[in-house]
Amino acid sequence: MIEVQLKDKKFELFIPEKVIIKEIERVAKDIARDMKDKNPLFICVLNGAFMFASDLIKGIDILCEIGFIRLKSYQGQQSSGSIKEIQGLVEDVENRHVVIVEDIIDTGHTMSYMVNKFKAENPASVKIACLLFKPNALETDTKPDYCALEIPNDFIVGYGLDYDGLGRNLKDIYKIKS
Ligand code: IMP
Ligand code: MG
Repeated sequence: MIEVQLKDKKFELFIPEKVIIKEIERVAKDIARDMKDKNPLFICVLNGAFMFASDLIKGIDILCEIGFIRLKSYQGQQSSGSIKEIQGLVEDVENRHVVIVEDIIDTGHTMSYMVNKFKAENPASVKIACLLFKPNALETDTKPDYCALEIPNDFIVGYGLDYDGLGRNLKDIYKIKS
């Protein structure tokens, strides 16, 4: 599929699944090397990161655990600025090596919120792993420690990311057509 229509917007193929998977495997190897013997706790940020977290963790061949947190910050095509925690983390992060697994860092406000939140709970360390990073949109100092792909400031969907709830099921990543 070269083009998809979601509600009022058209999107064109941007990053094929093969490229996504290759870059995730690279990130998984880096994390596994750095976190060996640390039993890291991966925290998958729902909804957007579910597909990334699934492929990432399959590539990590060390002892590790995974938990889930659910946030909401985006409305349509815009970062709303206000972050709502819809479902909290069940696991205790105290003395744990935490790796936050996020779909995308755009303005960075969501990530900044999470890093501050977890750092206040006395973890052994907090690292950031993201599938996508828009460096030109960053408004905070929360750069990823591990990143599969850097992209320009275009709005994208697919591989877990949505436009108004749609497009998460697409296995490739699409960008909005201007
Ligand atoms: P931030 O707080 O501006 O960094 O936004 C982070 C959240 O907004 C991410 O976790 C995504 O869920 C969502 N988001 C940011 N950029 C996009 C995009 O291009 N497409 C879909 N969702 C996005
Ligand atoms: Mg997200």
